[in-house]
Amino acid sequence: MRVLGIETSCDESAVAVWDGGVRACRTHSQIAMHAVFGGVVPELASREHLRALPGLVDATLTDAGLSPAAIDLVAVTRGPGLLGALLVGVAYAKALALAINRPILGIDHLQAHLMAAFLEREPVFPAVGLLVSGGHTALYRIEDVDRWEILGRTLDDAAGEALDKVAKLLNLPYPGGAYVEVLAQRGKKGRPFLPRPFLDNDHCDFSFSGLKTAAALWIQEQGIQPLGYGKFIPEVVPDVVCQLCAEVNQAVVDTLLEKTRRALRRTPQAQALVLAGGVAANTALRTACAALAKEQGLSFFAPELAYCGDNGAMVAHLGALLGARGYRNDLAFEAIPRGRRIPDDYL
Ligand code: KG4
Ligand code: ZN
Repeated sequence: MRVLGIETSCDESAVAVWDGGVRACRTHSQIAMHAVFGGVVPELASREHLRALPGLVDATLTDAGLSPAAIDLVAVTRGPGLLGALLVGVAYAKALALAINRPILGIDHLQAHLMAAFLEREPVFPAVGLLVSGGHTALYRIEDVDRWEILGRTLDDAAGEALDKVAKLLNLPYPGGAYVEVLAQRGKKGRPFLPRPFLDNDHCDFSFSGLKTAAALWIQEQGIQPLGYGKFIPEVVPDVVCQLCAEVNQAVVDTLLEKTRRALRRTPQAQALVLAGGVAANTALRTACAALAKEQGLSFFAPELAYCGDNGAMVAHLGALLGARGYRNDLAFEAIPRGRRIPDDYL
């Protein structure tokens, strides 16, 4: 099945063609535009999707050597994400599906991220999935490609958001998660001095806002100055900043790992642990999750680095998996913003 996947939930306009494998995949990143503001400006994101999407779809189809009529199914991210940004992709996808007279499928962005671990191999179920990105942190029990149960989610900030906010306090480039990691690798490992937040309970939900506040207080106490503007040169960053980055990075990894351990305990039938989302590019997190899976006798899967962040391939791929089972949406399906449950309204 040839599937065109469209992703516009946040700050990447992304399109891909899936045909038993990734046939073409293009991303138009808006990072440079939002970097000026130190975070995603939703209205600008929507406008940029609107500007970029038509050309991106044409170029991706050209890469794949296909005309629009050669597409069997249009898959589009319907949520969760920024509502205005989602609406651009969903409206475009509906119009395209109508024009080429092909079915459409609305895709859950978080499920698509997790299934990106299986872009190059058959999925393994049942699995526990840890999804960690700039907008979301969640744990799932995945029984099958169409049977998902949420075990935990963040009650406030996402893990990537916490890293990005600490990075912003230090005036690291945007988005900061990857830069925190670079500095963390230079920082000396010492005794923990930041909290591993929200572990003193018996559930799998997360809360990362306290970690950001604790880091902000520590920055104040230590009299750390934000880095000067200009090029990011890790070698000249003060040791104390690298130490803070190492600690924040470790606190995020420790917390994610403890909750994942709980989710695995509640899923004794699991065969695999799956890690995905933008923060899955983090080496310490990948290594820790792989070790946890090994310790529990499970297989471990995470997407290639190129498919950890938002991309069109993950949308086209999940579209193909669900489409092969006969799932479809009618043209009335809605875009769903962050915080609202995605309805089970497949045809
Ligand atoms: O999945 P994604 O591209 O977008 C969302 O759906 O949010 O994730 C972006 C997030 C950002 O918070 C970014 O700082 C984080 O992923 N990130 C990282 C790394 N690379 C990207 N966080 C930690 N370590 C990294 N290497
Ligand atoms: Zn994402």
